[in-house]
Amino acid sequence: MSSTSEKAFLRALSGEVVTPPPFWLMRQAGRYLPEYRQVRASCNGFLDLCYTPEKATEVTLQPLRRYGFDAAILFSDILVVPDALGQPVSFREGEGPRLDPIRDGEGLKRLSQENFMSHLAPVFQTVSNLSKAIPETTALIGFAGAPWTVATYMVEGSGSKEFVETKKLAYSQPNVFKAMIDLLVQATGDYLIRQIDHGAEAIQIFDSWAGVLPEEEFSKWVIEPTRQLVERIKTERPGIPVIGFPRCAGALLLPFVERTGVDAVSLDTSVPLDWAAKHIQPKVTVQGNLDPIMLIAGGETLDREVKRIISALGKGPFVFNLGHGILPSTPPENVARLADLVKGRV
Ligand code: CP3
Repeated sequence: MSSTSEKAFLRALSGEVVTPPPFWLMRQAGRYLPEYRQVRASCNGFLDLCYTPEKATEVTLQPLRRYGFDAAILFSDILVVPDALGQPVSFREGEGPRLDPIRDGEGLKRLSQENFMSHLAPVFQTVSNLSKAIPETTALIGFAGAPWTVATYMVEGSGSKEFVETKKLAYSQPNVFKAMIDLLVQATGDYLIRQIDHGAEAIQIFDSWAGVLPEEEFSKWVIEPTRQLVERIKTERPGIPVIGFPRCAGALLLPFVERTGVDAVSLDTSVPLDWAAKHIQPKVTVQGNLDPIMLIAGGETLDREVKRIISALGKGPFVFNLGHGILPSTPPENVARLADLVKGRV
């Protein structure tokens, strides 16, 4: 990456003020698009789609064709990492992910890095395909889940609201939990470096459940593992920008930015714009943070909110995005309207 890049998204990540702002949307490929549902219906489950390079490439490209986003994000999932470590993941219709939970040191012994990279070979093939297929001005984002968020699924065995089992393990057997996090830091680092070697030009680390931990635990399980991942990428593949997304971190966003070394931070919907402009944007590029439900609602509220976000953050280094992933009930025409608004065509 350099400030001379042709790619607006990479220029914004390097700290340039780009007008109109580059934009992409978290979960921009997915069920809100009929052409995605069609490809999805031809697969034997969701992970089959992630592990079939031709299909994963096609669904990554679909939203680019419609909306001309400035970045493509590899189509995969954060849970391919436990799957590749030997904790099989399944997705049942309408139920979300299911794993056989790991809640002690014995369970942890079942995991192995032996077949990790070969299991993920199809994902690297998708990255290679995409790096050849995307338009010249579009950047390619690789990604992984942050160790904390991935660990919540590994310990709970599914999605969760309270994270009782994960927190119990982290608070009462910190050594066991640390071994799990250390394994994830190692494996996730290998995974991201390999994505970069296949053509990923920027990395986003999704920490969707960062916001449920108290201050000291946030420091141990969110900041420190992310810092290690960023340090490894900066050392081994210098010049590749990293975006952190510690969702719902609140006031802990500030130490997150100061201590992890990320180049940019993705703001969730709750982050006040003026506060971010004053305290976060002078340190790193910010990305965000339209409420995904505003995109479902559409109309004048959407128009007003998009303009409010751009006028508050557009004077500094900024990438327009949502505050969390796009939802399946989003009308595709509202996304077209959003693209016109961000690019100043309406
Ligand atoms: O377009 C993109 O952004 C790239 C692909 C992507 C997916 N998941 C595809 C997906 C990315 C970056 C993710 C990240 C992800 N996955 C996160 C972090 C971001 C966030 O949203 O908080 C998390 C927590 C997951 C785990 C996950 N994957 C869950 C809980 C679910 C089930 C919920 C649901 O929406 O059904 C998934 C499945 C999933 N991942 C789908 C897609 C398009 C839907 C599956 C389907 O098509 O049946």
